[in-house]
Amino acid sequence: MTRIGVFGCGRIGRMHALNIASHPRTELVSVFDVIEEAARETARVTGAKVASSIEAIVDDHQIDAVLIASPTDTHVDLMTLAAKAGKAVLCEKPIDLDMDRVKSCWAEIASLDPVVMIGFNRRFDPTFQELERRLSSGAIGKLEQLAITSRDPAPPPAAYIKASGGLFRDMTIHDFDLARYFAGDIVEVHATGANLVEPEIEALGDIDSAMITMRTVSGALVHISNSRRAIYGYDQRIEAFGESGMLQAGNQRDTSLSFWGSAGTDIKDPIMDFFIERYTPAYHAEIDHFIDCIEKGTKPIVGFQDGLEALRLADAALKSLRTGQTVKLD
Ligand SMILES: NC(=O)c1ccc[n+]([C@@H]2O[C@H](COP(=O)([O-])OP(=O)(O)OC[C@H]3O[C@@H](n4cnc5c(N)ncnc54)[C@H](O)[C@@H]3O)[C@@H](O)[C@H]2O)c1
Repeated sequence: MTRIGVFGCGRIGRMHALNIASHPRTELVSVFDVIEEAARETARVTGAKVASSIEAIVDDHQIDAVLIASPTDTHVDLMTLAAKAGKAVLCEKPIDLDMDRVKSCWAEIASLDPVVMIGFNRRFDPTFQELERRLSSGAIGKLEQLAITSRDPAPPPAAYIKASGGLFRDMTIHDFDLARYFAGDIVEVHATGANLVEPEIEALGDIDSAMITMRTVSGALVHISNSRRAIYGYDQRIEAFGESGMLQAGNQRDTSLSFWGSAGTDIKDPIMDFFIERYTPAYHAEIDHFIDCIEKGTKPIVGFQDGLEALRLADAALKSLRTGQTVKLD
């Protein structure tokens, strides 16, 4: 049994806590949140204890691993504390909004050779994993173009935008990671953005719509399309195009039924709304992989360096947006 503590019992922390509690090879020992009521509610639905402080988890020798699902600006400190205490870490994305802080965090813990996994859950989506397997096995020959569409159903509240670090570091960061997962390392980034959806986002100095083009080491071209609002739901699609064909991962629905009548034909259910519903299997598989790595002493398929590289791409996109120039990466 791997014994786990959770930091942060908000939207994603509560879900992770439930997934850990229902995993057959883990025990959710305790949960901590600065809002005690949030921790108490998560403890109630999972059967875990409420930890009285961060130290109560970090210093608990019974706990093997922690999951960090608190706000982004707390990740580096919690990860450093936990790694120094010898615990494996699954940390939500992004590691931090500041590249210097990310680098100094790794400089501080690298010599401990910790198990650190970053919560890029989309890598664990069964359809995306199958797409990656077929790409790697040569199903479409050499990859030439990768198109990632990622649109949220509705913009988040202003308070969220304020602390988010902007569209690229908060939202596109998942797509940057997927781009690397499917197409390899990136050498060139060009970003354009606009405010087409929510005036409040513009007032906060952020954008709500973006298109990014990138070039990989192998020469493939990547396109990412983002919006903070898709009226038809959480739009998550991928198209990989190569010399001998194309692989398409479409949106998912609760059922595959379609209605045909006088008002129209081939009318399907709405696509799944938002991340917890759309990526349910991925979040479970993510926890399962983390546990496997702890049990077998292997490295996660998505580690600290992947978190750092995704942030590097987000920073490059921001620089490109501000300067209008293509940004070259080493
Ligand atoms: N991978 C994904 O799909 C995904 C989805 C949503 C959010 N996230 C990431 O997860 C993190 C949390 O996001 P959220 O939407 O759940 O936020 P949230 O605001 O809903 O929840 C965060 C919780 O952490 C608590 N908290 C604040 N400081 C804390 C501390 N020092 N220690 C413990 N708890 C603390 C807050 O009280 C709150 O309950 C963010 O970094 C976000 O980027 C990832």
